[in-house]
Amino acid sequence: MNLRKWSVMLVMVALAGLLLTQAGCPSADQAPPSTSGTGPDSAAEPADSVPASEEQPAPASDDKAAGTPFEVQVPLGLPPLPIPEDNPLTVEKIALGRALYFDTRLSKDNTISCATCHDPKMAWAENKPTSDGIGGAVGAVNSPTVINAAYATSQFWDGRAASLEEQALGPIENPIEMGHTLPVCCTELSGVEDYQKAFEKVFGTPEVTSDRIAKAIASFERTILSGNSPYDKFKAGDESALNDAQKRGMDLFDSSGCADCHTPPLFSNYRFMNAGIGMNKEKPDEGRKAVTKKDSDLGKFRVPPLREVANTGPYFHDGSVESLEEAVKIMAQGGIPNDNLSGMMKAVGENKLTDENIKDLVEFLKALSGDYPKE
Ligand code: HEC
Ligand code: HEC
Repeated sequence: MNLRKWSVMLVMVALAGLLLTQAGCPSADQAPPSTSGTGPDSAAEPADSVPASEEQPAPASDDKAAGTPFEVQVPLGLPPLPIPEDNPLTVEKIALGRALYFDTRLSKDNTISCATCHDPKMAWAENKPTSDGIGGAVGAVNSPTVINAAYATSQFWDGRAASLEEQALGPIENPIEMGHTLPVCCTELSGVEDYQKAFEKVFGTPEVTSDRIAKAIASFERTILSGNSPYDKFKAGDESALNDAQKRGMDLFDSSGCADCHTPPLFSNYRFMNAGIGMNKEKPDEGRKAVTKKDSDLGKFRVPPLREVANTGPYFHDGSVESLEEAVKIMAQGGIPNDNLSGMMKAVGENKLTDENIKDLVEFLKALSGDYPKE
């Protein structure tokens, strides 16, 4: 441990001579270090000394980074994969993102990686109600799967992050998840030779920044997709892919209003809805209201996508329900009554679905389990 710390220190001292004074972990949005001077002072050139376009190095943009373009093959049933223009997929970037995703060095005490709470063996989620973070700290919400998160129009139960890139850095600095700070994390990773090489290959520079960590992890996550399920095969024309109960369940899913919120093909419309879960607690989670500060958003959560749902229990934002049957039952009865309950949710309850209907719905949801990467 001490030895490693020392070697990190040495590398840092060496780097300090090369890099200008950018402390810790600069984001790529900041101006790149000036290459024209040797010390911090020389970076402060008068703005009008040279036309920027001629003399200044092009901003260190990751866009045109080297690498082998990665052609995504989305599984049967999924729409084209949205990929941000400023973060194209490359084979090398995905490999780097994978290494970071499984690396416990992203946490302060080297005990926790992204995979601790989004474990490929648990359908890239976690099979407990809420996550234990660093030092055994207990979080308040259930860890969602990262499967198909690439399609979501916002991230987190309350949608507080707009993209996978924006999401990826949250857990590193979350005191009860990985408990680290980004500057220290970047400094530590900068001292790892393999990362220096990988960052060089992917971004054309060995410098580790939080922006590049986020881009690499997000790119890896974009490859964690699930499709080619019995439902998809049925839709593609294979009548035998669903059994009778599943076919009945599929019809009920449409006719009783589930699909209005859990809209195919991803089984979410990604809107925020109040289904009443947890609203009967003494201090309910505010949900979307915590982001927008609007009373009308109290108790609203982003509609969870339902692919692989049979493998991602426990259910709901607070992990309060153990079995899929119970979760479907609560939905089928129209959620849990409260002042802000969604009208669409109430409407589901008015169908008065029977126990038999609920069984069929559960069987249908099982048909949304397909193929996804297992490691
Ligand atoms: C200690 C457990 C824990 C760790 C470690 C962790 N997460 Fe999470 N993750 C969660 C929880 C809990 C949520 C839901 C939080 C919320 O919605 O408020 C979440 C949400 C997410 C989401 C949003 C998914 C969705 O459908 O909204 C993504 C993507 C994600 N995490 C990726 C990562 C990545 C990448 C890392 C590593 C850098 C990571 N997580 C580390 C527990 C964890
Ligand atoms: C008004 C929109 C809406 C309708 C209609 C709706 N749901 Fe939901 N569903 C939600 C929301 C929002 C959640 C998350 C609630 C929470 O955790 O607070 C959810 C959660 C779920 C979950 C748990 C998923 C998970 O990963 O935790 C299942 C399963 C589910 N719904 C199935 C159904 C079924 C089956 C129907 C029809 C009988 C249905 N839903 C109708 C909005 C809706």
